[in-house]
Amino acid sequence: MEIIIQPTPEAASVIAARLIARLVREKPTAVLGLATGSTPLATYRELIRLHQTEGLDLSAVTTFNLDEYVGLPPEHPQSYHAFMQENLFRHVNIPAARTHIPNGMAKDIPWECARYEDAIRGAGGIDLQLLGIGSDGHIGFNEPTSSLASRTRIKTLTERTRQDNARFFDGDIAQVPMHCVTMGVGTIMESRAVVLLAFGENKAHAIAEACEGPITAMNPASILQMHPTAKTVIDEPASTALRKRDYYRYVFDNKPQWQRV
Ligand code: PGA
Repeated sequence: MEIIIQPTPEAASVIAARLIARLVREKPTAVLGLATGSTPLATYRELIRLHQTEGLDLSAVTTFNLDEYVGLPPEHPQSYHAFMQENLFRHVNIPAARTHIPNGMAKDIPWECARYEDAIRGAGGIDLQLLGIGSDGHIGFNEPTSSLASRTRIKTLTERTRQDNARFFDGDIAQVPMHCVTMGVGTIMESRAVVLLAFGENKAHAIAEACEGPITAMNPASILQMHPTAKTVIDEPASTALRKRDYYRYVFDNKPQWQRV
């Protein structure tokens, strides 16, 4: 796994946005896997800037989001449908018909999950998946002990994740949904490229386990060690528990010119 440590979340996000922009310029019909939460916000801001001021054309891109809460209608302000509209889609030119987010209101959730997998396959698979990480190591909403081969399905959120996300629900954990639909770990692993972002000391332990610990379902992000091209882009505070952080910096500082972002 390539680990890139940057001084600030903004600097890390510029790298993530450049990786996405470079892909879209090379392949205008790229299929992007998108994430929600606080972590990708600065990446989306930078993508919007690239679109609005540097002509980045997203009109042929297809997107698939990782997850959605079960039971929140798309118009609920904390639904991931609303999040994506507000923080990315309404500012750029991705056609609405080519944006995909699991339907957490589906009457038949297993059917919806199979439909979502089919849609990803039908689009030719995901070229680049953007990921955050939970303080417990989850990716998407694949909580610890999730099968590392799992596909899109319903999951029960842990108490810790609901507590972490209560800040979006007036600080009231009772308002945070209990269930979600999430791409599986196996689904995520099939993406041709993965960019995992993490910021802040609260993520340092999860990042150290994911990057340097054993591969284990106790930290689902650790499976990314088996991904051929996964990049982890983090800020200083999120890097503090990494044993080989000096080596990661050394690698980044000494990249051959053609490999620089
Ligand atoms: P956050 O969540 O970006 O809001 O910290 C990350 C995640 O839960 O995957």
